[in-house]
Amino acid sequence: MKKNLLVVVSVLLVAAFALTACATTATATPTETVAAATTEAATAAATTAAATTAAPTASGKIAILLPETKTARYEASDLPDFKAKLSDLGFDVDNDLIYSNANQDASTQQSQAEAAITNGATVLVLDPVDSDAAAAIADLAKSKNIPVISYDRLIKGSDGVTYYISFDNEQVGKLQGQALLDELTKEGITNPQVVFINGSPTDNNATLFKKGAHEVLDGKVTVAKEYDTPDWSPDKAQDEMTQALTALNNKVDGVLAANDGTAGGAIAAMKGAGLTQLPPVTGQDAEVAGIQRILAGEQFMTVYKAIKPEAEAAATLAYDLVMGQTPDASLVNGTTNNGKIDVPSILLTPVAVTKDNIESTIIADGFHTVAEICTSDFADACTAAGIK
Ligand code: GAL
Repeated sequence: MKKNLLVVVSVLLVAAFALTACATTATATPTETVAAATTEAATAAATTAAATTAAPTASGKIAILLPETKTARYEASDLPDFKAKLSDLGFDVDNDLIYSNANQDASTQQSQAEAAITNGATVLVLDPVDSDAAAAIADLAKSKNIPVISYDRLIKGSDGVTYYISFDNEQVGKLQGQALLDELTKEGITNPQVVFINGSPTDNNATLFKKGAHEVLDGKVTVAKEYDTPDWSPDKAQDEMTQALTALNNKVDGVLAANDGTAGGAIAAMKGAGLTQLPPVTGQDAEVAGIQRILAGEQFMTVYKAIKPEAEAAATLAYDLVMGQTPDASLVNGTTNNGKIDVPSILLTPVAVTKDNIESTIIADGFHTVAEICTSDFADACTAAGIK
C-alpha cells in the first residue's frame, strides 16, 4: 500500500514566476510524488490552483498460492514475473504480498488459503493442487467477498471464481501429439507403440493435455501403456516408465510425456534399462533441463508457454481488484465453464519447440538466456544447433 499509483497533486502558486508543486496523498505512506507544472499555471493569476483527486488505496493484501516446486516454472518464472508486475503497478510486494507453495498437497493449500485470508488477503490468486478440492477455497473466499483468480489451472465446481488465466491446454496436448506423430512418421515407423505418461489426475490441465494428445494420436498409434502421474512427480514418472519397459520388453517407439519433469523421469528410466537409442519423447514448460535434453538429443520437443504474460495478466487483475477497481474488460478473451459458472477467462497460446526453433522462441523472448542453456556440457550442442 506504500506506493500508490495515483497521487494527489496540489499545485500552489505563490508568486508570479515562482511555482511550487507539492504532492500529497490520501494515505499516510506515500512513496511517490508527482509535481505538475504547466506554462498556463505559471502565467496564471497568483491564486491557488488545487487539483484534488482521492487516491485509491489497496483494500488489503494479495495472496498468490502456487501448487508445487518440482516443476521449475513456479519459482523461476511465475512468482518473480508476478511480483515484478505488481511492483511496476505500484503495489508494495514486500509488505502486502503473501506467497505460499503447497508442495503438491491439497490440504496444505487449503490451510495456506485460510491463513492468507486471516492475515489480510483480500484477493486470492490460486493455482490449485486439486482442481475439485479447491472449490472449498473459492467458496470460502466468496463468503467473505474475496475475489479469486484461478491461475493456470481451473478451479472447478465453485461460483466463487472471478477470473481464470491460462493457456489453451487442449492445444498443448495437441502440439505434443502432433510433434510426436510427425517424428514417428518421419522415422518411417509403422504402427508405433507409444507410452503415455500423463500429469496429475487432480490437475484439470492434465486432463486437457491428455485429451488433446489422444485426439491427435488415437487410431494412428498403439497406446501401449498409459499412466496418470500423481503429483506430476518425476520420480513416479520414472517408475511408471520402468514398468512399461518391462511389460513391453523395451519395445517403445515414442513417449508422450506431459511435461519436462515427467519426460526427465521417463528418459532416466530408459537409460536405466540400457536403451542406447532413445525414442522421441515430448515435454512441456521449456525448462532449462528440458531444453538441454533437446539439444543433447534425448528429448524430442517441449511446449513453450510464455509465463510472463500469464503472470502479468494475473498481477494486473489482482492489482485492480485489490484497489477496488474494475479490471479492463479488454483483458478478457473468453469464458470457461467450471461446472458451476462461466468464468471470464484470459487464454494464451502455447508453442511447440524442437531443436530448430529454440533460438527464435525461448531465447528471443528472454525466457532463458544462452548462458543458462549453453553451459559447458551443452556448448557443442548449442553450436551445432546454431545457438549463440
Ligand atoms: C500444469 C501446468 C504445467 C506444469 C504442470 C506441473 O498445470 O500447466 O505448466 O507445470 O502443471 O506443475
